[in-house]
Amino acid sequence: MSLNLNSLEAVAEAMVAPGKGILAADESTGTIGNRLAQIDAESTFESRNAYRDLLFSAEGMENYISGVIMYDETLRQSSLAEGTPYPEYLAAKGVIPGIKVDAGAHDLSGSEGEKITSGLDGLDDRLTEYRQMGARFAKWRAVINITEDNPSGYCISTNAHALARYAALCQANDIVPIVEPEILMDGTHDIDDSFVVTEEVLHTVFFELYSQGVQYEQMVLKPNMVLTGYDASDRAGVNEVAEATLQCFFRTVPAAVPGIAFLSGGQSDEDATAHLNRMNQILGDNKPWNLSFSYGRALQQPALKAWGGKDENVSAAQEAFLKRAKLNSLATKGEYSEDME
Ligand code: 13P
Repeated sequence: MSLNLNSLEAVAEAMVAPGKGILAADESTGTIGNRLAQIDAESTFESRNAYRDLLFSAEGMENYISGVIMYDETLRQSSLAEGTPYPEYLAAKGVIPGIKVDAGAHDLSGSEGEKITSGLDGLDDRLTEYRQMGARFAKWRAVINITEDNPSGYCISTNAHALARYAALCQANDIVPIVEPEILMDGTHDIDDSFVVTEEVLHTVFFELYSQGVQYEQMVLKPNMVLTGYDASDRAGVNEVAEATLQCFFRTVPAAVPGIAFLSGGQSDEDATAHLNRMNQILGDNKPWNLSFSYGRALQQPALKAWGGKDENVSAAQEAFLKRAKLNSLATKGEYSEDME
């Protein structure tokens, strides 16, 4: 399948095309090690390659998945059956190769409990190399925590500044930036707290993107949904989440942005699908932006479990992955219903 990827606008549009979303398979070596430990599998260069391979080679995944975000190690690995490097292998399937380029969230000096994402040093050179290797988009994740005292304005503005610096460098290197400011769901905050913080963060991020000359048409936003904290006793339902999230985004995200691809952030697989579906139902054809997914856990969790690190379970794992991919694809069109589970 060949896609028109002749401009950054075309790549960004293709990433969030209706019926499609992004597979976030860019867990760092540490994080994928934790995921593999959950299924009692050892994390080695080979086991990580085998796990990513089962996802990428699942037959028909390209019908639901527009692009895959990889980690540096995976971008340099190859298809087990064909020996083709993954950027080339995915592109031949009509799936756009992407790369995580941030260097993780580290303690923000002077602000207890808050994080700043690092990775700007040398980024220009790394982007040049990744583009030569076939990456057409990149990802940078900022992490914001809601507590009694936080987030601070300092944390929000330094993270927004770094996100915009990264995005500008991506566009200068012919790479579409996924701009990911993630407000974590950890904590006891209610949905109103989540709304207020998400609104402030997105305003600040778009101010920085504007200030640094980032072209909105050539990017994809990857935000959290507006949700109740995991440890709160009273949780907002699907409709409330969908309405609050849309209201927050109408206020903050310019219509020039082609698409919003949500992160799942530890929601259950079903919740992540149901929330996306409800938002698309409410929006109908009246869409300033396409609303899609860029899920990690919510696409992979059932597949990882079904696989259990064993060769004989590869087909079952692929089936589990395809099921979630298909249901989320339907959710991008508002055509999912719970009985499909
Ligand atoms: P989750 O969907 O598991 O939150 O992961 C998405 C992601 O890429 C986080 O950076």
